[in-house]
Amino acid sequence: MEIHSSKRLEHFKTGIFAFLDEKRIEMEKKGRKVVNFSIGTPDFTAPDEVVASLVNGASKPETYGYTLTEIPELKDALCKYYKRRFNCDIFPDEITATNGSQEGIGHLAMALCDKGDIALLPNPGYPIFSAGAYLGGADEYYYPVLEENNYLPKLDEIPEDVLKRAKYIIVSYPSNPVCAIAPDEFYDELIAWAKKHNIIVVHDNAYSDIIYDGNIGGSFLSHEGAKDVGIEFFSLSKSFNLTGARVSFAIGNKEVVAAIKKLRSQYDFGIFRPIQEAAVTALTEDYTEFLENQRMKYQLRRDALCDGLSAIGWKVPKGKGTMFAWMPIPEKFTSSEAFCFELLEKTGVLCTPGSAFGSLGEGYVRFALTKTVEETQMAIKMIDESGILK
Ligand SMILES: Cc1ncc(COP(=O)(O)O)c(C=O)c1O
Repeated sequence: MEIHSSKRLEHFKTGIFAFLDEKRIEMEKKGRKVVNFSIGTPDFTAPDEVVASLVNGASKPETYGYTLTEIPELKDALCKYYKRRFNCDIFPDEITATNGSQEGIGHLAMALCDKGDIALLPNPGYPIFSAGAYLGGADEYYYPVLEENNYLPKLDEIPEDVLKRAKYIIVSYPSNPVCAIAPDEFYDELIAWAKKHNIIVVHDNAYSDIIYDGNIGGSFLSHEGAKDVGIEFFSLSKSFNLTGARVSFAIGNKEVVAAIKKLRSQYDFGIFRPIQEAAVTALTEDYTEFLENQRMKYQLRRDALCDGLSAIGWKVPKGKGTMFAWMPIPEKFTSSEAFCFELLEKTGVLCTPGSAFGSLGEGYVRFALTKTVEETQMAIKMIDESGILK
């Protein structure tokens, strides 16, 4: 019997990722040292008490049933966390948990859009923004995220006919992959613009705790009028190193949250109770010091990578947030995919081509800050000694 996937799936190409990964495996089999900066999962670990909550919950047979929805303690803990951390009042009916922001954002267009509706998305941007819009049948319009505009959208340059059909806009700061942050005024302008054009704002706040140089991560929801126009995805993945546990939230406008909830109730039976209990611990204990230490470690890694590469002749800027570094490829190269392949082959250093994040990512690469300072310095030495920059 011949089996074919849906035409819908043909849209997604594994292309360069599969190719680079095959090359990595082949090199490792031959005993070559590979330093992999392409994976965006932290090498740090979750706080002990959070792990203990999960273990404790998982040891009780009665926790293995469907939860169907959030346990009340989880919503309560999140409301208190938002007040403490962002000085922002949120209420239980303004919250729905998702299996990671990835899942929530992936289903957003399905919950909000009809045929002909447009999703306004950043280019370059995190890939689920575009995949979710496509899977939900929305048309995609990409706004450029450029250094000359401080990586902020030029909202007044979006054409009128696009605005008329636009259902939602996704913005995300600190932003993956460009590592930029947004000033407070930006959110105020965005809220006024969204009200004027009747466009839902979706702020993806995955990196509120990974922000550098003394800046402090905030919440879109702490801005006046935010809940009238939109929602925020808030993830425990990167702050608390819980990427595998899959627990995040869509928070804000009640109607938008209700739509996401209604859709989710069709295909999901709720997050495993011990994971919800672990999330309660993460949101309730005081992790200020834990988060500060972690932020400093990421910042030291960023400095080691960016200063180290600049010192060997590859001038790279320092990003302002996220667990990544985003940099233009060395001048003599013209394609980010070709550069990544040659970098891997000649040096054993693996990073992600910027083109994976949209057409405007071409000419750039992304490094995840998931290696220690020592490993990062070793990788820089490998790059230097290979002669690839000469
Ligand atoms: C910008 C951005 N949004 C969302 C996610 C997914 O987060 P979660 O683990 O909550 O699904 C990531 C993960 O790398 C991300 O970089």
